[in-house]
Amino acid sequence: EKGGHRHWMAKEIAEQPAVLAACLDHYLAAEGGIVLPEGEVDFSAVTRIVMVACGTASYACLTAKYWIERLAGIPVEVDVASEFRYREPPLTPGTLAIFVSQSGETADTLAALRYCRGRIPTVAVVNVASSSIAREADIALPIHAGREIGVASTKAFTCQLAVLAVLALHAAASKGSEIARDVAELGRMPALLSQALGTEDELEAIARDLAEARDVLFLGRGAMYPLALEGALKLKEISYIHAEAYAAGELKHGPIALVDDSVPVIVFAPTDALFAKTASNVQEVMARGGRVVLVTDAGGAERIEGAWRVAVMPTIAPLWAPLLYAIPAQLLAYHTAIAKGTDVDQPRNLAKSVTVE
Ligand code: M6R
Repeated sequence: EKGGHRHWMAKEIAEQPAVLAACLDHYLAAEGGIVLPEGEVDFSAVTRIVMVACGTASYACLTAKYWIERLAGIPVEVDVASEFRYREPPLTPGTLAIFVSQSGETADTLAALRYCRGRIPTVAVVNVASSSIAREADIALPIHAGREIGVASTKAFTCQLAVLAVLALHAAASKGSEIARDVAELGRMPALLSQALGTEDELEAIARDLAEARDVLFLGRGAMYPLALEGALKLKEISYIHAEAYAAGELKHGPIALVDDSVPVIVFAPTDALFAKTASNVQEVMARGGRVVLVTDAGGAERIEGAWRVAVMPTIAPLWAPLLYAIPAQLLAYHTAIAKGTDVDQPRNLAKSVTVE
């Protein structure tokens, strides 16, 4: 039933190209536009967006903030649900609230939705279409990931990103922007994820070394920063190695004090507009003896010398890079956990769905 895989998590990582393609099929029109079959989300009067979620889903929101602000020019605030619900934030006119949840039953996210419901328009991005969050939001957009069993979320994350990308593109189009090229690039992502899965052996070899570490740092800039957060969460959850993520530019404001030759520093750095800045942070880490695991593309690998390990991903349109780099983030965590012998599908102290606060 695990399709020949040792763990649900391995199966769910491997099926992402197919699941993502099925998800995008629901939202990308053959002629190059966007379809939102479950109900049109009206962005015309939206001047502010608040996004609320927990854990991995909150990192999907943080990624979408970069996309929506860049593509549609609408300011986005992201909150973890446990903070949002008790802060009683002002819901100003023109605000749209988006709730993201795989299970659709997370207690804090549901409570945050109930706080907004009836006061501002609410959209839910959910995997379980019959869930409370799906039922109670004005509009529910399913991510079509299929049942996710592994406690560590993998395919739900990439499908959440896909639906949020679609929403960002839809918002951009409703503000009058041309989106055809970005839609086409999004449609190519399933094939590119397959290529990224082809680097599994290299990532497994890196993970065997990571398993020796007590602490691991993750760095990224722009939309790769939320991915660094996601990579660190995945590693913590299933390998129990202490991991922290920072925006690469924050390094010299404190975290660089942690760097020495016992701390692997995983850097997600596709060749994009911010590459040179990230590369200079990599140099700072290496100058302090830090062991850099550089996850980049062929062009990036040529531009940085002296990394401890390098994993080369396919070269892609930088906008959607977080979708692709989710694969190495997941595989590094998975194989590190395997090397440590931890219970990948049922990590200690964790539940698949957190229905109590
Ligand atoms: O079902 P939800 O998406 O609302 O769950 C949110 C978090 O509990 C969840 O993403 C959690 O962080 C995962 N274990 C991450 O792998």
